[in-house]
Amino acid sequence: MVNIAVLGYGTVGSGVVEVIRTNGEIINKKAGQEIHVKYVLDLREFEGDPVQEILVHDYNIILEDPEIEVVVEVMGGVEPAYTFTKKALLAGKSVCTSNKELVAKHGAELLAIARQKQRNYLFEASVGGGIPIIRPLNSSLTADDITEITGILNGTTNYILTEMADKGAAFEDVLKDAQSKGYAERNPEADVEGYDACRKIAILTSLVVGEQVDYEDVHTEGITKLTEADFKYAKALGASIKLLGTSRKVDGTFYSMVAPVMIGQEHPLISVNGVFNGIFIHGNVLDDVMFYGRGAGKLPTASAVVSDVVDAVKHLNENILTIWEQKKYALGTYEKLPGRFFVRMAQAADPESQKQEIGKVFGEVRYVEADGVEGETAFVTGTVTEGDFSGRIAGFGQVRSVIRVDF
Ligand code: HSE
Repeated sequence: MVNIAVLGYGTVGSGVVEVIRTNGEIINKKAGQEIHVKYVLDLREFEGDPVQEILVHDYNIILEDPEIEVVVEVMGGVEPAYTFTKKALLAGKSVCTSNKELVAKHGAELLAIARQKQRNYLFEASVGGGIPIIRPLNSSLTADDITEITGILNGTTNYILTEMADKGAAFEDVLKDAQSKGYAERNPEADVEGYDACRKIAILTSLVVGEQVDYEDVHTEGITKLTEADFKYAKALGASIKLLGTSRKVDGTFYSMVAPVMIGQEHPLISVNGVFNGIFIHGNVLDDVMFYGRGAGKLPTASAVVSDVVDAVKHLNENILTIWEQKKYALGTYEKLPGRFFVRMAQAADPESQKQEIGKVFGEVRYVEADGVEGETAFVTGTVTEGDFSGRIAGFGQVRSVIRVDF
């Protein structure tokens, strides 16, 4: 029997206890021995919940108990999760987590400690919730030179964008609806500003390059500025607007970005709607591969955490090598990244000379009209770098919206 402790009895923590209770027989068979939840750590009391019998409030009880071999950290946030995780690994316990903030910030260091101690730091649930993506990157996709990893990595924003597209609704109204349904937090900033997706693409890119990609270096834009009119133009173009986290290798260097992008019907992520996540990878010998599923939620996330516990139990005194060195990776300068852009401008008094002006600055462009949108000039540019685009568009005072285009 292997004893484990769960740090945090919130949504994911209670999910982990429930998954082990519900699927215990299957899980124990896969792990090769019984997995027993000996403690749950939380500051709160849970009167009437059977967890009360194993609830502790002092982390040292877990840390100092030699019977605890695996710690499940599902508290979220950097502290005290970082201190608790480090202490657990140094004490010779493996740690499994869903904590993307901590993994993005200190993953490389915690992996190094785990390796030194011949234990494991596993974080399948930190990206894509229940979707297997970390383990595939570490094992199934190791024969490839991966040249692109692009994902819809945030369920909250994908739900909002899908509803805006389907119902023609405004961002604020859909956000309120998402909050009432529990798909968005009361403070939705981390999701809608793209910060959550940014941490996730930083983790995935770190694993692809094997070095530390700092999320602060990833150019990040959220979805708060998108309007009903943007979706009308997307429809006219036969496209969908998705919040994508992307890392692409150009001339040997990865460029990373999180931003809303118009994708066409041919794009592999076009059918990823609602709260679902999808991750698309291109490898030089494998070609394209896609991962799809629930990127959030109590039980899907807990499923990924418990799969890590099973892996930790199967490798109790043996480190599963994960290449993610602490050395900082220099991402390509975002301004040099080439792309195409959809632009909306207020229509000038003389639309023809406005178009001539646009032509002088951007060369050949494709003009677009959308049902129900008047008084605007909208177009899609040819390929231009991010830096050149910013410079060229700066001269037009009347820009209403800019969205990257990938079709
Ligand atoms: N708010 C996040 C999402 C939770 O919607 O994807 C999972 O990280």
